[in-house]
Amino acid sequence: MNFELSSEHEMIRKTVRDFADKEVGPTAEERDEQERFDRTIFEKMAEIGLTGIPWPEEYGGIGGDYVMYCIAVEELSRVCASTGVMLSAHTSLACWPLYTFGNEEQKRKYLTPLAEGKFLGAYALTESQSGSDAGGMKTTARKEGNEYILNGSKIFITNGGEADIYIVFAKTSSDGKGETSAFIIEKDMKGFSIGKKERKLGIRASPTTEIIFEDCRVSKDHLLGEEGEGFKIAMMTLDGGRNGIAAQALGIAQGALDAAVAYAKERHQFKKPIIAQQGIAFKLADMATSVEASRLLTYQAAWLESQGEPYAKASAMSKLLSGDTAMKVTTEAVQVFGGYGYTKDYPVERFMRDAKITQIYEGTQEIQRLVISRYL
Ligand code: CAA
Ligand code: FAD
Repeated sequence: MNFELSSEHEMIRKTVRDFADKEVGPTAEERDEQERFDRTIFEKMAEIGLTGIPWPEEYGGIGGDYVMYCIAVEELSRVCASTGVMLSAHTSLACWPLYTFGNEEQKRKYLTPLAEGKFLGAYALTESQSGSDAGGMKTTARKEGNEYILNGSKIFITNGGEADIYIVFAKTSSDGKGETSAFIIEKDMKGFSIGKKERKLGIRASPTTEIIFEDCRVSKDHLLGEEGEGFKIAMMTLDGGRNGIAAQALGIAQGALDAAVAYAKERHQFKKPIIAQQGIAFKLADMATSVEASRLLTYQAAWLESQGEPYAKASAMSKLLSGDTAMKVTTEAVQVFGGYGYTKDYPVERFMRDAKITQIYEGTQEIQRLVISRYL
């Protein structure tokens, strides 16, 4: 058994931490305030290979593993959770299904520019009436000759309106479980448009939009995997995606912990630093322990996926633990900062607002428990 990260893993952490501190952190507060997505950050990430970490070089990637990818999402989220989820949705939810289920032509045409950072990716499963019950979607893809005609809408799509490629799930028939298929949709396709942009509590620099299909005709070349295989593709994609969100939650928690420790050493009350008060010191100890436990589960799930071992249960567990850790640690960080933590003068209120989504998306905490319990 070996808990040591390799020199490649340490190197990517250093590279991403430097990048995050220099290129992402300084504008995080402003982008949050303005609800502004900044494409140049994605472009700069592409320059250092972050947009294609786990994919082979022949498809524009850097040939890394899922642990490297998780470290990158963690380090970005340590300063800006919106940037962390941008990379997570792009990599786990758009690139992964293309790499796993795409044919050679689809990999060349879509995965390669995505991995190279020329395209940004998104994933569209949720609809207004079907969130947790993802199988209850109503968007249809009617087959007509060599084409499918998509009608319906998806809501809450991360990277919506900014992405170039959307992996979209729609019903191709109405006879039971094999009724869903997956499609690759390009942003400029006729009949495809962007609807309402959500105004949110947190991850405000990450665009979340509705996407709409009105007689959107796509050739059968846009079918990803086999017809009727869509629900399985959607679920298998989320199996890994959930660990990307665990890494995001971990990064948010680490950012909040770092800020709280630094503040507790500096802030004096009753003639000593507040970290010298056992009530604060113990709080910080609990926070650090939760962060470390989340890190171990998250890296373990990523390691399992990299080894080609089953990872769905581990991934649901890491998302469950890390999401709860992020919420608990960020809330306690605000407490450590006292009244100052409640203001926008410090980043901990943003971390707390950002943390909440990690308990909701890619399957709520209740759905993670449902997934985990099915393995017991
Ligand atoms: N891998 C492969 N196949 C799977 C699977 C998996 N992980 N999970 C289910 N399936 C297959 C089943 O084997 C079954 O196949 P058969 O019909 O051949 O038997 C079929 O799919 C249906 O499975 P279930 O009966 O288990 O499906 P269900 O209706 O009970 O739903 C669920 C299961 C886990 C609750 C699922 O609906 C789910 O994951 N819901 C949550 C949705 C979600 O996480 N959405 C996230 C959207 S993306 C997002 O939020 C993005 C972001 O953060 C940035
Ligand atoms: P509901 O399913 O209506 O759930 C409401 C409550 O009921 C929750 O507490 C839930 O846990 C509980 N509940 C439901 N069913 C059960 C059950 N069986 N047992 C116990 N409790 C249950 N979707 C995408 O497809 N792509 C994206 O890129 C994407 N990005 C998102 C970004 C943001 C900011 C947000 C807010 C959402 C995003 N989503 C995305 C959608 C997200 O995955 C869903 O919001 C989530 O899965 C929950 O669905 P819902 O909101 O419909 O809640």
